Amino acid sequence: MPGVTVTYDSRETGSAEARFVWDYGTTDERLRALYERGKAAQWNAATDIDWDAGVGLPSRTGSIDTQSPLGWSESCPVPNEQWDAFQWEFHSWMTSQFMHGEQGALLATSRLVTMAPDMDTKMFAASQVTDEARHVEAYARYVDLLGNSYAINPSLKRMLDTVVAESRWDIVFLGMQIIVEGLALAAFRLEHTRSFDPVIAQLTQLVAKDEARHVAFGLLTLQEIYGELTSRERADREEFVKEAALLMSRRFRLEEIWARLDVDVEAGTNYALQDQKMIDFRRLMFTKIVTSLAKVGLLTTGVRTHLEQLELLRTLPSRVRGS
Ligand SMILES: [Fe+2]
Ligand SMILES: [Fe+2]
Repeated sequence: MPGVTVTYDSRETGSAEARFVWDYGTTDERLRALYERGKAAQWNAATDIDWDAGVGLPSRTGSIDTQSPLGWSESCPVPNEQWDAFQWEFHSWMTSQFMHGEQGALLATSRLVTMAPDMDTKMFAASQVTDEARHVEAYARYVDLLGNSYAINPSLKRMLDTVVAESRWDIVFLGMQIIVEGLALAAFRLEHTRSFDPVIAQLTQLVAKDEARHVAFGLLTLQEIYGELTSRERADREEFVKEAALLMSRRFRLEEIWARLDVDVEAGTNYALQDQKMIDFRRLMFTKIVTSLAKVGLLTTGVRTHLEQLELLRTLPSRVRGS
């Protein structure tokens, strides 16, 4: 696509963080196509969700449902009489974290608009800012409907703080588009299967479509530049991925829920850490992240070993860099 290019003294293109670009043409047709798809797929959180459909709970059996797709074991330290309350608190906690994560995505993506080095990336990132604002709007409205909310999980907050403070634009990408969004995409898809609540099912289905586009954006962009990294630059990004994986897995210790239900926090945390179904749950949450890391060449031997130690690896993609 032809575009206007304006000649300008490169010494006056703005600060290191806010990068002006004077080539207004398309440099990556795939990114521009993704941007077009994003424009065509806009939806309205206020009118496209049936907010009156009502919120609900999984089957009120009064006992622990070990058949749940989320997988709770008999060893879950929640007494049977508190099972409904536990389901309710877990659902409120998950959706509250979605809401906070969406705000992180909103802030991080707005930084990408200013930091990205080409116009295609800036324009897609700008369309993603609109998407993330809509996601914040939708989850905030949903959490308000629940009437039960949680503060941001401390590990998630640390992860988001790191991403929004990062000065290297590709690491903002890596942290937000591959790790935070990759986990969100897996979680949204799982949440959508929990059809006990028609509002959350509809909401997460709409959000997941946007998130799939955002992850594709991250992959396209990072595949392009990560083939060119020096060994020092690659090592820095590997360290970032390791720290991010640790923080993102820690958020599933569920300490806030145990505390609110007056379940012994140590017993609850031990259950969350050691129970096989909880481990499987975390592995499921990391599936998309792991395949994305492999695609951008960051599932190196060091990263893979770290993910194995954290019990986050399910299956290994066949092509693994550095193995
Ligand atoms: Fe989002
Ligand atoms: Fe997103």
